[in-house]
Amino acid sequence: MKLEEFCDCFNRLLGERPKSPLLLDGGQQLLQELLRDPTWFAEFLQKFVVNPEFTADRPASVFNNEIRLYRSPDRSFVILAYLWDSRNLCPVHDHNAWGVIGALLHPMREVKYRRLDDGRAEGFADLEQVSDLGFQAGETGIVLPLDKGIHQTGGTLDRLSISLGVYGRSIRQGLIHFFDPAGKRFLRAASRISFRKVLALKALTCLEETLGEKFLTSSLLQALPPDLVREFQRIHSSPNPSGVA
Ligand SMILES: [Fe+2]
Repeated sequence: MKLEEFCDCFNRLLGERPKSPLLLDGGQQLLQELLRDPTWFAEFLQKFVVNPEFTADRPASVFNNEIRLYRSPDRSFVILAYLWDSRNLCPVHDHNAWGVIGALLHPMREVKYRRLDDGRAEGFADLEQVSDLGFQAGETGIVLPLDKGIHQTGGTLDRLSISLGVYGRSIRQGLIHFFDPAGKRFLRAASRISFRKVLALKALTCLEETLGEKFLTSSLLQALPPDLVREFQRIHSSPNPSGVA
């Protein structure tokens, strides 16, 4: 299944207004279809790295390694890709919406947390880890909104991994929360510098290896700003150049 077909099917699923368990089950089944073959994602990344208008439509988020693939016109769902450049996990965070997540290329990991405090003390959060799951490529899981979905995700290998997330309409306005379990604190997210194009180039090299097809062509590299290509070549063998925690 390609991205356009997935969007149509997901839109139809939401149109049926299923209750939460059925929505999450149906969403996971559709996502598993989308995860079956990552060729469509390589083609997406090619456009992402060379087409300024295509990139401008996908502004950076609080996650350095996130690329927005699609947002429905009525904002009922968004599809996000995450490029994990190492086995490190992202910071612990919550989400403003329900979601379904899955691994597209190489395995991913998700650690879930439960909140023990009542949320009344500003900036304070007492978390307990409740699970540590691994997803092979093609496997999916669910994310619940707000305090019920506090988690962190990442790759499990010392090479680039790709995962996808589909999230529903926000039920809380504003940014997500980042948690510090050891310090028992949380912060509202703030913007960070994005290295998404560098990660996208590295993802294309991994997709070349996996699919045996040339995506990072010399003509594509020549069309890029020299600074971007230099940065990509400089960090190409570095384990965690993006600073993604
Ligand atoms: Fe998340």
